[in-house]
Amino acid sequence: MTSADSRRLASIRSTLAGWYATEARRLPWRMPPGSATRADPYRVWLSEVMLQQTTVPHATPYFEAFTQRWPTVEALAGETDEAVMAAWAGLGYYARARNLLACARAVAERHGGVFPDTEEGLRALPGLGAYTAAAVAAIAFGRRAVVVDGNVERVMARLFTVETPLPKARPELRALADALTPEPTDYDPGDWAQALMDLGSRICRPRSPLCGECPLSGECEALASGTPEAWPKKLAKTKKPRREGLVWALFDGEGRIGLVKRPERGLLGGMLALPTGGWDGAENVAPPVEADWQNVGTVRHVFTHFELELTVMRGEGAADLIWREADQAENVLPTVFRKALVRARAG
Ligand code: ADE
Repeated sequence: MTSADSRRLASIRSTLAGWYATEARRLPWRMPPGSATRADPYRVWLSEVMLQQTTVPHATPYFEAFTQRWPTVEALAGETDEAVMAAWAGLGYYARARNLLACARAVAERHGGVFPDTEEGLRALPGLGAYTAAAVAAIAFGRRAVVVDGNVERVMARLFTVETPLPKARPELRALADALTPEPTDYDPGDWAQALMDLGSRICRPRSPLCGECPLSGECEALASGTPEAWPKKLAKTKKPRREGLVWALFDGEGRIGLVKRPERGLLGGMLALPTGGWDGAENVAPPVEADWQNVGTVRHVFTHFELELTVMRGEGAADLIWREADQAENVLPTVFRKALVRARAG
C-alpha cells in the first residue's frame, strides 16, 4: 500500500468514527458509542441473528419480546422448540430459529451459559456463521474482526469503485473492509462495525443514497463519478420462478381455524401452517375435508428462490387438524399463512 493509500484509509476511519460518535442510532441491543461497558453478548448475538434477515424497525419488537421473555441465553436454551418457533413467526427463514436454539443450548450446556469471546470460539458453535461470529466478537468482546454484510459490501464498492460484479466481488470487498478496519487500540471494534452498518443502512442506501448527508462524500469514488448508485456492480438478475397453489382455511364456526404442522425438513419446516396443496412438491391438492369451499381471493409471498401465489379457499367444518383461535393463530403463523388467514377472515 502506498503512503497516499494509507493516509486515505486513516482519513476515512477518523471521519466515520467522528460521525458515529454523534449520529449513532440508539438501539436496544447497543451501547452508546464510546461506552466503557460492553453490550451483553447474548443480546448482541440475538440481535445479529434477527437482523440478518430483516430491517431494524421490523426486528426491534421481536428483540424486545424475546429478551423480556428469555432474558438470558440459558432461559432461551431451556425453552421448547414450539414456543421459540411460535415467537419467531413473522421473522422468516425458520431454519435460523432452529439454529438459534441449537446455539443457545450449546452455550448453556457446553460453556456454562457464557459465550466464547473470540471469533474462532464463536464460529465453533452450531448454527453460528462467519458474519455473526465476527459481529459478536467485535461488538460484545471488543475484538478486531472484519464484519461484512450487504451494507458494508455496498459501502466498500462505492468508496473504492470496485468494478467486479457481486457475488464474485465478495473477496475483494472483504479485503477492502479488512484494510479499513482500525486496530482496537485506535478505535473500538464494536463501534467501528456498527458505524459502517449505520452508514450503509441509513445513508449509503441501495437506491437514492443520501450523499448530501454522507460524512464520507469527499472520499467516495462512486460519488465523484456522478452515479453512485451504479455500484456495487451486479450480475444481471434472473427472474424468480413463480409457483401457484391452494391454501385451505377451515373454520369451526366458533372462531377457530384448522392448522397443520409442516414437515420438519424443507421450507417453513416444523412451523404451524394452513393446509395447502400444489405448490411445494406435494401433488395433492385435495381439501382437508369436504366442505362448501369458497374462493376468497389470492395472496402472494416472495421467498428467497421463488414467488408464490396461493388461492385462498374458505370453508367451515370439522376435520382432524390442530385447532387454534384465529386471533391467536395470526401471531404464530409464518407470514405467508398469516396473509392467507387475514384474507380468509376478511372474505
Ligand atoms: N444490522 C445488523 N447488525 C446491526 C447492528 N448491530 N446495528 C444496526 N444495524 C445492524
